[in-house]
Amino acid sequence: MITAQAPGKLYIAGEYAVVETGLPAVIVALNQFVTVSIEKSADYGSIMSKQYQENSLYWSRQGDEMVFDNRDNPFHYILSAIRLTEKYALEAGKRLSLYHLRINSELDSADGKKYGLGSSAAVTVATIKALLAYYELPLSKDKLYKLAAIAHLDVQGNGSLGDIAASVYGGWIAYQAFDRDWLQAIRRESSLTELLALEWPQLNIELLTPPANLQLMIGWTGSPASTSQLVDRITIAKAKKRADYQNFLEQSAACLQTMINGFKQKNLAVIQAQIKRNRELLQQLSDFSQVSIETPLLRKMCDLAEEFGGAAKSSGAGGGDCGIAILDAALPTHQLAADWEQNGIERLALAVHNVTL
Ligand code: PMV
Ligand code: MG
Repeated sequence: MITAQAPGKLYIAGEYAVVETGLPAVIVALNQFVTVSIEKSADYGSIMSKQYQENSLYWSRQGDEMVFDNRDNPFHYILSAIRLTEKYALEAGKRLSLYHLRINSELDSADGKKYGLGSSAAVTVATIKALLAYYELPLSKDKLYKLAAIAHLDVQGNGSLGDIAASVYGGWIAYQAFDRDWLQAIRRESSLTELLALEWPQLNIELLTPPANLQLMIGWTGSPASTSQLVDRITIAKAKKRADYQNFLEQSAACLQTMINGFKQKNLAVIQAQIKRNRELLQQLSDFSQVSIETPLLRKMCDLAEEFGGAAKSSGAGGGDCGIAILDAALPTHQLAADWEQNGIERLALAVHNVTL
């Protein structure tokens, strides 16, 4: 029996801008995992998961057409991960076989609460890791990221793939997305093996070490939103508000560059100032795009953290889900957690996870 794990993630800063090629974000991996196990089988294969099942479908109407949206269903990421890894195994001369694949996720809690910690990315990475072990094909983190990024992109079709990077590399990372148009074009003329060996234009993943006095707090506000749909809505707004959007991208890039330097200089005050700045920039994006990123409850969460002496913002696509606060480790954070709780915000007591491959 082979087992592999991949962690979930949380965006610290740089959301939405990071969807554009080469623009930076800071992301962390968390100690909540998707676990995949594989066992060889003689006569038939199976895919089993308590949390991820293909027993309900979401669809909408476009004219007379029934349109299915698979992008938020982790089951489709499992299938895509299997398809890509087996293609790679075939190229490596392996013989494919039958197996039972079991998936268990801590990212989707038993009572059905989804914290928005990136289960689609973690399930993609964990499935690929398990299959690579099963077919005895060790891969570097760099190549694992690339394989998982392709598998994820095949289902979601948009997004930065930063959650894949966090799940593969672990810890705190500074991330810049590769040029996805380039990938689409080069895929038509390369094998997977060739693709993974190439240098991908603009892709950059750098490990960061936070200052020792930095404390990360996570607050969950409920009402999860669909990241892929929010990204679509920003893409629609971008076409109409070109100048505002360009300005947002430039300001976000400058903010993130200063923040990343703050990590390198181990300077908590610089990091906190840029968290606040990034919050303002996302509010501007929300204003001109008419997409709700910081919901009233996320606003409350951030304001309480700021009153407490911290810096805070929504995390990820927003519209609900999690927010993050960056505080001095000397502060008695249980008090802030109690304030949050009184306002209906749940503190998620999770820790940053470092990946050893
Ligand atoms: O909502 P999350 O935690 O999956 O984060 C989405 C972050 C975006 O920048 C909005 C989209 C992306 O793909 O990077
Ligand atoms: Mg989200």
